[in-house]
Amino acid sequence: ILASVICLVEGYLLGSLNFSIMVSRLFKGEDIRNFGSKNAGMTNILRTYGKKYAVMVGVGDFCKGVCAVFIGRLIFSLMGVTLFDAGYAAGAAALLGHLFPLYFGFKGGKGVLTGLGVVLTLSPLSFAIIVLLELPLLYFTRIVSLASVTGAILYPIVTCVVHILQRRPFILDTVFSVALAGVVLYMHRANIKRLLSGTEYRFGQDKKKQ
Ligand code: G3P
Repeated sequence: ILASVICLVEGYLLGSLNFSIMVSRLFKGEDIRNFGSKNAGMTNILRTYGKKYAVMVGVGDFCKGVCAVFIGRLIFSLMGVTLFDAGYAAGAAALLGHLFPLYFGFKGGKGVLTGLGVVLTLSPLSFAIIVLLELPLLYFTRIVSLASVTGAILYPIVTCVVHILQRRPFILDTVFSVALAGVVLYMHRANIKRLLSGTEYRFGQDKKKQ
């Protein structure tokens, strides 16, 4: 239990480092949550400040998902715990930290990049399939939230398919993927409404329409 608690705390504290808020405050003296879609994420940074800052945020938010899982596993292995893969606990906690950051008033992003970092570390094959399917969609539609929402829906499906193909038991992975997808979809509820009404922001269109 102690090892699990340490993992959860580690993941949450790391996840709470919301790079879009840090980058906007550090380089612009502003808070990204007051601009564009008001979301503390890479897409809104790209929309508001451009590519250079978006890359910093993208790398930071993605890598903290990866690191949270690795550090969680390290904690379990140092403490000699083999009950389950610590990556699930640490990854879930990192995602929660990103959504509800301790250091920034519990108002963070929507979890896509941090979630992707976690998925890459837990299941590289699922990550590769989702990215390969979503990149063309993103390229042709230029709507990031559409790729995020469909990627979230795909994640549990891909997880099941990969496990069936590899003939591995998949209860924990499936539960985790459904939970992660549910959280990401819930955080995108306003985007989903805009997507359904055809009013979602598309890169390359007039910013004022957002
Ligand atoms: O990951 C966030 C993205 O899917 C949507 O961001 O700023 O358009 O709400 P935004």
